[in-house]
Amino acid sequence: MSTVSADLVIVANRLPVDRVEQPDGTMGWRTSPGGLVTAIEPVMRANDGTWIGWPGGTDEDLEPFEADGMKLVPMSMTQAEIEGHYEGFSNATLWPLYHDLVAKPEFHREWWDSYVSVNRRFAEKAAELASEGATVWVHDYQMQLVPLMLRELRPDLRIGFYLHIPFPPAELFQQLPWRRQLLEGLLGADMIGFQLPGGAQNFVRLVRQRVGHKTHRDLVYLPDGRTVRAAAFPISIDAAGFEAMARSEPVAARAAEIREALGNPRKVFLGIDRLDYTKGIYARLRAFSELIADGHLDVEDAVFVQVAVPSREQVEQYRILRDDIDRLVGRVNGDLGRIGRPAISYLHSSYPREEMAALYRAADVMVVTPYRDGMNLVAKEYVACRLEDTGALVLSEFAGAANELRQAWLVNPYDINGMKSALLDAYSADDRETRRRMKAMRRTVAQNDVAAWADAFMSELAEVPGSHGKAVRP
Ligand code: G6P
Repeated sequence: MSTVSADLVIVANRLPVDRVEQPDGTMGWRTSPGGLVTAIEPVMRANDGTWIGWPGGTDEDLEPFEADGMKLVPMSMTQAEIEGHYEGFSNATLWPLYHDLVAKPEFHREWWDSYVSVNRRFAEKAAELASEGATVWVHDYQMQLVPLMLRELRPDLRIGFYLHIPFPPAELFQQLPWRRQLLEGLLGADMIGFQLPGGAQNFVRLVRQRVGHKTHRDLVYLPDGRTVRAAAFPISIDAAGFEAMARSEPVAARAAEIREALGNPRKVFLGIDRLDYTKGIYARLRAFSELIADGHLDVEDAVFVQVAVPSREQVEQYRILRDDIDRLVGRVNGDLGRIGRPAISYLHSSYPREEMAALYRAADVMVVTPYRDGMNLVAKEYVACRLEDTGALVLSEFAGAANELRQAWLVNPYDINGMKSALLDAYSADDRETRRRMKAMRRTVAQNDVAAWADAFMSELAEVPGSHGKAVRP
């Protein structure tokens, strides 16, 4: 397979497929679940794109290959790079800093050095593969230095960057010893996309204050005559795809089976998250369990199904969180459960998308309560799967999705009593009320799907004034 001269190159920390061991012991590939892959697949196909990324744990060198018709270029990482770039600077410095300091970020110079060198390798690979005047689309917080490094190597390229997580207020970002390098790294792009207008505004303000460039609204004017645009492009899901999956016979049957296995309670509450301290899992389970302890809910009537997808397990904060939640679930079920009736049905595992769709179909109240979240696609997936306009969504005000899903029961996840009343309201809301809300949210999600997101980003990237490179079809 030839990977030379791609007109579109995607650069992301991860490839859209994970390397997995198959039952016969050989290694194979499995499409990673998640929004990024479905989001970018259509643009990749239309433009014969090439995707550069890390295939997961291994540090062996793998050849470029094709999967589901996508050209993939695996980038290996050494153990030291995994510890410095991935677990360290990306997930123990930037992740907590960009999520409102929900955990305390750590600043270590060796981590930064590793972040710089991994970004450089990815930039060099993109420079090698991109054709003359190609478009390169760089993704997320693990790769913020790639735009400038790439521009220095290949001034002919058109470069877009998209940040999938929140961009913090200046007061927080300022703590970073390498704040200026990160801002300048991003400014190597022609356009920088954020989830929300607030993130774009935070960025422009920081550039004005810290780097001293002139700005006007969403534009930054660089001394070399280039213009960089910073704007919001709220990401979404393949709404029609999810809806079709939810409608399918096997998924409908599985949803019924799940309710049956739970003992057919009156109402099923559901949480699905990566096991991450930004997601507010602990507080939400506490709120639910207090409702049972107070006698507002009964385990005969209600159960909380919490799926926690294992994530970043080598990072200390994630291990602590897992222990805390294990202990909480054990205590709640020990204190409040009855035989065959746990208060919380807790699953620490990842599942295929069909199983998620069945869970969404089976759940009466979906509970999404992050302390801070760029968007949160689970909220949108739930809405897409509610074919009959039934079901209630309890949603944190601090998830990007709250900007669009205004008809959810919105909560402040720091306010446990507020969450308790929202859970109870959602539980006891009448049919007319839930339908009215769900119907409106379903319309929003159907109209603003992931194809619309990718189209908007690509066509606006092609129009940034002063941009180099030729346009790529959205
Ligand atoms: C978030 C980030 C992604 C990341 C994903 C999974 O959604 O925005 O960049 O890939 O989490 O995390 P992981 O560390 O497993 O890649």
